[in-house]
Amino acid sequence: MIAGMQQVNVGIVGLGNVGSGTLTLLAENAAQIALKLGFPLRVTAVCSRSVEAKKLPEGLGPVHRTTDWREIVSHPEVDIVAELVGGTSVAAEIINGAIEHKKSVVTANKELMASCGSEIWDRAIRAGINLAMEASVAGGIPIHAVLREGISGDRVVALYGILNGTSNYILTEMEKRGAPLDEVLAEAHRLGYAEADPSADIDGFDARSKLAILAALAFGEKITPSDIFVEGIRRISPMDFQYAHKLGHTIRLICAARQTSDGLILSVRPALIGLETIIAGVQGAYNAVWVKGRYGQDTFYYGRGAGPLPTGVAVVSDLMRVAREIRYGHPERVSPFAHERLGEYKPRSVTSEKCAYYLRFRVDDRPGIIAALAGILAEQHISLEAVLQLPSETKSSLPFVITVEPTCEHTIREAVQKMSHLDFLREPPLALPMEPPL
Ligand SMILES: NC(=O)c1ccc[n+]([C@@H]2O[C@H](COP(=O)([O-])OP(=O)(O)OC[C@H]3O[C@@H](n4cnc5c(N)ncnc54)[C@H](OP(=O)(O)O)[C@@H]3O)[C@@H](O)[C@H]2O)c1
Repeated sequence: MIAGMQQVNVGIVGLGNVGSGTLTLLAENAAQIALKLGFPLRVTAVCSRSVEAKKLPEGLGPVHRTTDWREIVSHPEVDIVAELVGGTSVAAEIINGAIEHKKSVVTANKELMASCGSEIWDRAIRAGINLAMEASVAGGIPIHAVLREGISGDRVVALYGILNGTSNYILTEMEKRGAPLDEVLAEAHRLGYAEADPSADIDGFDARSKLAILAALAFGEKITPSDIFVEGIRRISPMDFQYAHKLGHTIRLICAARQTSDGLILSVRPALIGLETIIAGVQGAYNAVWVKGRYGQDTFYYGRGAGPLPTGVAVVSDLMRVAREIRYGHPERVSPFAHERLGEYKPRSVTSEKCAYYLRFRVDDRPGIIAALAGILAEQHISLEAVLQLPSETKSSLPFVITVEPTCEHTIREAVQKMSHLDFLREPPLALPMEPPL
C-alpha cells in the first residue's frame, strides 16, 4: 500500500439483499481491496428505514447510522454514495441529491437507469462526478465493463441474453420435472427467487429494463423500455418442452437486440432455441449474455444474475473504480452507457422479422382439424413444415404442434387471429419464434 494514501469513504443507502452483500464484502474483503487499490475503502455511513435493527458485519469500524438518506448524500465524510434502494422515486431523489452534493454514485437500479439513466449521466458529467451501474444488469456478470471497455473496439451486431433468473429457474424446472408453472413459481417464491408479486419476472418487464440498458451500451441508442416488444412465460407449459425437445430445441425467455438494415429490433419473449446452442445450457437462476461483434465475432458471458454476494461484487468493483478516480485524480470519463452521446432509438417492430414458428394448439379432437388450420396457413401464404402429435390419453384438450417455414411475425399474427375463432380450439394458439441459429 502506498504509505499514507488516504482512504475513500462510502455511504450506503439501502441495506437489503444487495446492501447487506456489499457490506459483507467491504468488511470481509477489506484487506484485499486495500491491496488492490493502494488505499482503504471505508464505510462511514449507512441508511435504511429500519437501520437500528440491522446487524452490520464485524470489522467495519465506526459507522454512522441514519434513517434519513439526506444525511448520507450531504455527509462530509462520504465520497461515494451507493444507492441500493431500488424503484424510481426515492432512488431518483437519492441519486440527484448525491450529484447536487458532488458525490459520485454507484447504483444497482435497473428500473431507474433504464428509464432515465442517460439524463442522470448528463447531470453527473455537468457536476464533474462519476456514475457507475454494473450491478443493474445480470448481477454477477461484469457485462457493462465488457460493453463499455472490453470490446468497445468492435461493432456489436446482435446481443442475446437470459437476463431474468426467476423466469429461467421456472422454465428449466418445468423442463426437468414436467411440473406446471404455478407449482414451480410457488417453489421459487419459497426459495426466495421470486417476489410476492411475480409479474415483473414472469411477464418479462424486469428483463425488458435490463435489455434497454444493455442495448443502449451495445448500440448507442437511448431506448425507452416500453418501446420494446415484451411477452412473458405464463403460457408455457411442460408439454411445450416435450414438443420442443422432439424438434431439437428448448425454450428460454430470450432478450434479443439485433441490428438489421431497417434498424435495431428489440424483443423479450419466450423462444425455441436449438439444444446445441451454448445459451440452451443456461440452467436455473443463472444469467447469460451472448454478444456478436462484426469483427471479434462471438463472445459469451455467464454467471449468477442476482443474489447478495454476486451483486455485491459488482457494486464493490464499481466502488473501487470510482474510488481510484477520486484518489488518483484520473477522471474516468467513459460514459456508463459506453457512448459519449446516445442517439434516439426509432422503434422498429418485431413484426417485420422473418423466422420459423412453433404453433401449439389444444383442441377437442374431431375430423378436419388439420385441414382447417392448414387452410388458414395457406390463405396467409405460410408454408407448413411439420405436424407433431405426442401420445395423449385424452381426446378433449388434445395438444399438437405445427411448425411453419420462415415467415413474418405479422403474417403469423394474422393467421393466429383467424384461427382463434375456430370452435374446436380450447385456447388461442401459442405461437413461439424458433430463433435463427444464434
Ligand atoms: N436482489 C438482487 O439480487 C438484485 C440484483 C441486481 C440488482 N438489484 C437491484 O438492487 C436494488 C436493491 O435491491 P434489493 O434486492 O437489495 O432490495 P431490498 O432487499 O428490498 O432492499 C431495499 C433496501 O432499501 C431500503 N429502503 C427502502 N426505502 C428506503 C428509504 N426511503 N430510505 C432509506 N432506505 C430505504 C430498505 O430499508 P429497510 O430494510 O429498512 O426496509 C432496504 O434495506 C434494486 O434496484 C434492485 O433492482 C437487486
